[in-house]
Amino acid sequence: MTATTYVQLAYLVAAVLFVVGLKNLSSARTAPRGNRLAAVGMLIAIVATLLSKGVVNYPMILGGVAVGSAIGVVLALRIQMTAMPQMVALLNGFGGGASALVASAALLKGTVVPGSVPSVAIALGAIIGGITFTGSLIAFAKLQELMRGQPLVYPGQQFVNGIMGLGAIALCVMVSIQPTGLEAYAGLVALALILGVTLVIPIGGADMPVVISLLNSYSGLAACATGFVLGNSGLVISGSLVGASGLILTKIMCDAMNRPLTNVLFGAFGAVDQTAIAAAAGGERPTVKAYTPDDAAIVFSSASTAIVVPGYGMAVAQAQHAVRELMDALEARGVKTRFAIHPVAGRMPGHMNVLLAEANVPYDKLVEMDHINPEFPETDVALVLGANDVVNPDARSAKDSPIYGMPILNVDHARQVMVIKRSMNPGFAGIDNPLFYLDNTMMVFGDAKKTVLGIVEALKEV
Ligand code: TAP
Repeated sequence: MTATTYVQLAYLVAAVLFVVGLKNLSSARTAPRGNRLAAVGMLIAIVATLLSKGVVNYPMILGGVAVGSAIGVVLALRIQMTAMPQMVALLNGFGGGASALVASAALLKGTVVPGSVPSVAIALGAIIGGITFTGSLIAFAKLQELMRGQPLVYPGQQFVNGIMGLGAIALCVMVSIQPTGLEAYAGLVALALILGVTLVIPIGGADMPVVISLLNSYSGLAACATGFVLGNSGLVISGSLVGASGLILTKIMCDAMNRPLTNVLFGAFGAVDQTAIAAAAGGERPTVKAYTPDDAAIVFSSASTAIVVPGYGMAVAQAQHAVRELMDALEARGVKTRFAIHPVAGRMPGHMNVLLAEANVPYDKLVEMDHINPEFPETDVALVLGANDVVNPDARSAKDSPIYGMPILNVDHARQVMVIKRSMNPGFAGIDNPLFYLDNTMMVFGDAKKTVLGIVEALKEV
């Protein structure tokens, strides 16, 4: 067998590991193994690529690996769980940018045959990679609050974007037919970079995780195109896997919010109607009933079933270990306790599962929305822990609400609702929540971690 055959075999093994790794990622229990398998696959693919005969400058590659690994390790160690979406956005952006750079390098070599697969792939790598690069930087800036999360809209925006999109497609065709035309290529890259910005600025901060998932898919497609440019089957396979899985995740998130992808991309969701806010602020707000952790403990002491609904506030307060203690205390008293997991609770897919797994909450205690919803009417206490939008009854009934149609956890059907949050501030969608004013709702104001620990302490006394 030749060295090339060994390299191709190594790519095949890596591809199998990627596919098996992805399959394992579909369950929280097997996800760590899936991650490890995919990482081993990536190592095999990298080593195989370094051994292939096309490599001309090892010192430069090793220097890049050293610098990149050092930055990656520092970022991975320092990043807060709540900042993970913006980190993923940056990584997508770099992936897209790298693909566009490889496409440019291949074009500048001047050896591409017009109309060939590599010439089409160069054009696709440039347009998809360019859009992914700047689009991801805007997504990062919005989530990191370096720029306003509000959708930035202006008259004729979609028309202008449409014209630029058509222009970019025309340049793509020109570059594919005549890959030596540097002016057309420079125009294509410039237009792609501008489009990345103009396509993402009208999208609100609340929709950024969906956009990031979509850009993740794009970065995979750009890598796939680069694979065709370089004739590297490993890159083609891994790029298409990223492209497909990113698209599937995007669809899952849109389905969980009951909104088509077109609404996420073009609906300017989260644009605040300032007159409505002013009217609401001026209007009479119903009063809420505020209670203490001691009161909460008394309610729990006479309960026999409880469902905890964790949300973004649990992540902010890092209250997962405290809530595990509460679960242990309740179960010790014979209260059947489970966790209701909304697919978009928190700020990234699987956010709540990851945190609760970290606190060793058994997987069988975590119940998906569709399975737990019918159980709320038979539940004594629904504890809403730092969640807001995912339990907002307006999503079911208020046609004018921006979250109307989003499936929610029906906590208001429980006999008693207990909400732990610090204030009456809204959640990510920026809207009021009628749940807080219901007769069967008690508000326990405070930081999620401190309040839950307060309830655990108080439970020892009742
Ligand atoms: P949110 O609706 O964002 O509400 C979180 C609540 O946590 C806030 O109202 C806040 O109220 C409270 N909070 C913050 N810090 C706290 C602390 N230290 N202790 C106690 N409470 C605290 O969260 P959610 O219900 O999880 O909903 C998620 C939102 O993100 C949805 O709108 C969803 O569509 C959106 N989103 C999520 C995803 C994914 S993939 N998860 C993707 C796209 C969009 P106070 O400030 O009063 O404490």
